[in-house]
Amino acid sequence: MSVAERVLEHKSADATAAECIAFVGDNQTHSVVDSVLREYFAEPLLRDGGPNRAIEFLSSTVPPSVLIVDVSEAASPQTAMMSLRAAIPETTKIIGIGTVNDIAVYREIVDSGATDYLVKPVTEKALASALNRTEESDDPAAPEVVHEEKARIAVIGSRGGVGSSTLAVNLAWILSEEMKRKTALVDLDLEFGTIALSLDIEPTRGLREALENPARVDGLFISSAMAKLTDLLSVMATEENLTAEVNFNPNAVEALFEALGRINDAIVIDVPRSAYAVRRRVFEAATEILLITELSLSGLRDSLRILAGIKEVAPETKVRVIANRAAGGKQAMQLKDFQRALEHKVDLLLPDEPKAFNSAANTGKPLAQSHAKAKVSKAIRKLAGDIKLPELKEEKDGKATKKKGLGRLFRRK
Ligand SMILES: Nc1ncnc2c1ncn2[C@@H]1O[C@H](COP(=O)(O)OP(=O)(O)OP(=O)(O)O)[C@@H](O)[C@H]1O
Ligand SMILES: [Mg+2]
Repeated sequence: MSVAERVLEHKSADATAAECIAFVGDNQTHSVVDSVLREYFAEPLLRDGGPNRAIEFLSSTVPPSVLIVDVSEAASPQTAMMSLRAAIPETTKIIGIGTVNDIAVYREIVDSGATDYLVKPVTEKALASALNRTEESDDPAAPEVVHEEKARIAVIGSRGGVGSSTLAVNLAWILSEEMKRKTALVDLDLEFGTIALSLDIEPTRGLREALENPARVDGLFISSAMAKLTDLLSVMATEENLTAEVNFNPNAVEALFEALGRINDAIVIDVPRSAYAVRRRVFEAATEILLITELSLSGLRDSLRILAGIKEVAPETKVRVIANRAAGGKQAMQLKDFQRALEHKVDLLLPDEPKAFNSAANTGKPLAQSHAKAKVSKAIRKLAGDIKLPELKEEKDGKATKKKGLGRLFRRK
């Protein structure tokens, strides 16, 4: 069992999580926080330390409702708060404590995702008011914070070479360049991924780091770790060397998607079949899953196994099954037999188009761009039109207003 899997197992066993967890650095703040938390919560948890300790601790426990963190030792309290916010689900309210008494710093810390920021020496009254304000922000009568559901589309192949990367690349291209939605394309196959190669871009740096250390995932990091293919399409695709294991942190996927979702409408993820812990987290976090397969006996067996795996961790998530190189009757299994055995409809058939793919192969461009009229391009275009995307902002009285979104709740295991 890998370290990540052990952490996941520990996490699901930890059902009795503290409602409030605090990390503070000095004795005086420690005693104030201790006495206030005892009044407010049945079993608060108070620890020594700052943001790094908090992220480390929370990577293996159920997130609390309220997290209090002393950011005064951090080189930049704002960056520390951004890292915390990226690593910890949005359902956790964060109260920062620091030494800098400056309104601009206060604003930046709140903009980075904290509910409140208190300056040392923290008094019992100030902390109690901050906790009250945190509760008020939970009040259903309070103005609603809009969290739009960003599309997180996981693409996985039933077997090697069935066309999952092709689908991911072309879908991301159509969503961004044709449908004009800001899109991030992420190749999670860190070792053997082909996305950078197929788009003729240099592999980006940072994806491995993000998956190992979600504390590093903030806005700045994301923008430096992405290659901008166009104004609307950015790509994260790496080519890690094959001699070292990636020490995947289970919270990293959610942190990465949350950070990417702040600046994109859609995230298309090319999911490797190999890494179980990554795959599981991606399925949990996805808003929909595209399973691409060939119509063959082995395609059927592995589609069944992947569907069963999805059902276990994300039973509510929409899954579309896509059969590639399948139209035209040349496939090894008949469509109706395949569907019956799979007990799942095949939602889309992509034709076999070797000519178009061969002539597109060396262009470094997606088929949908170089061969926009190819049958495969048209079919993926139709699929893109069916994908649920966040509402577009509407212009009203000259001001952009957002329609109410669904809100993403962190799924606790
Ligand atoms: N409909 C199609 N018609 C013809 N060729 C196709 C079609 N779909 C994909 N291909 C070709 O099949 C090859 C494999 O596709 P791709 O790399 O997308 O598969 P994959 O599932 O991502 O593979 P891996 O398991 O290695 O990640 C590519 O050369 C691609 O151009
Ligand atoms: Mg691939």
